[in-house]
Amino acid sequence: MKMGKIKAWFTLITQMGPVASIGNKFEVLNRFFVLDVLNDQGLFEFISTPKTYEEILNHFSYKDISYTQELFKLLKEDKGKIILFSEDNNTYQRNPQVELPKLQELLNIRDFERIYMASKVPQKFAKVIPNRMSGKSKDFIEELGEAGPSLFDYDEALTHKLYTGLRNSSFAYIKTNKLLKKKILDIGCGSGRETAELWMKFKGNSYLVGVDPIPSFIETARELFRIILEETIQKIGKNKIFPELTEDNHPEFATMKAEELEFPDESFDAVYLQQILHWTSDPRKAIHEIGRVLKPGGLFFGCQGTLPLRTPYMDIMIRAHEKVNGFFGLDDFKKWLSEAGFINFKRTTPAGIFKTIKK
Ligand SMILES: C[S@@+](CC[C@H](N)C(=O)[O-])C[C@H]1O[C@@H](n2cnc3c(N)ncnc32)[C@H](O)[C@@H]1O
Repeated sequence: MKMGKIKAWFTLITQMGPVASIGNKFEVLNRFFVLDVLNDQGLFEFISTPKTYEEILNHFSYKDISYTQELFKLLKEDKGKIILFSEDNNTYQRNPQVELPKLQELLNIRDFERIYMASKVPQKFAKVIPNRMSGKSKDFIEELGEAGPSLFDYDEALTHKLYTGLRNSSFAYIKTNKLLKKKILDIGCGSGRETAELWMKFKGNSYLVGVDPIPSFIETARELFRIILEETIQKIGKNKIFPELTEDNHPEFATMKAEELEFPDESFDAVYLQQILHWTSDPRKAIHEIGRVLKPGGLFFGCQGTLPLRTPYMDIMIRAHEKVNGFFGLDDFKKWLSEAGFINFKRTTPAGIFKTIKK
């Protein structure tokens, strides 16, 4: 096994734990969030007697769009048998033999408490599902842009050890020394905590630019980067020595989408992202943009999960927003990379840690 692969695996396992088991637990919580929202809507009460799909749509003013069809398919196929579907009558009925999951019972199970902290991110998205089925959901960027202070719960969740473990594993997969004093773009940087981790990884010795489409994240990153960096060092880099944060090594931040990068061609030596492409409206376009702004020989690296997911409830929550593509297959990922001029694509761990070079 190559050194980068060993380091990526080692970092992931030691910092995050067994990835497959964490994925499964995340999905148990995701399933709870989705069922809870549908329960609040009164869906399960309505189908306490058998109802056709059309009757359900009419009652709740849901639209027969592919999103609604997919959600009902998910419920129909749910292994917990919450819903009984009759092929003969085409009806859905709440299974009276099976109880809905209860959050407190889930949290009593070992390890669920720490995963619950990290799952504050998807939890909020489940609430958007009824709007999406009614054709009233908003663009993700607009929705989060309006979230105000609760946006920072989301930011806090992203600093959770599970996400940091993923980021550190991506960093372990590459040769950091090659990127010292180079220009690096951090796409989907959130409020700058991820950029602070990159800053630490490159020992304050690279020129970093962080972009995210949510204006309040970028405002925070601009105003509070020094504090965010100090906090991040306290949290994960306590025993290491870092240079002073100066005007020269302070990252730049800009409000921008991955699909529309406002930088000249060939202006970066490396581009990093973690779990971003499925959030974009058009991941193929985003990859082409990344290829455009990278210099020949430049590195594109990070972490990106692909279909098939162990976590269909996670995907349905993500796609509750308008203009969010959702996850895509590995074949599409490779095809889009190749179209955009990337070579030597390598990927490791079930989390989707990857690196590739711009030709
Ligand atoms: C799951 S978070 C990941 C944040 C960070 N990369 C991390 O791992 O902690 C998704 C991030 O993607 C950003 N995002 C959403 N749509 C985007 C787009 N079209 N282009 C770039 N970033 C986007 C969000 O604002 C958010 O900060």
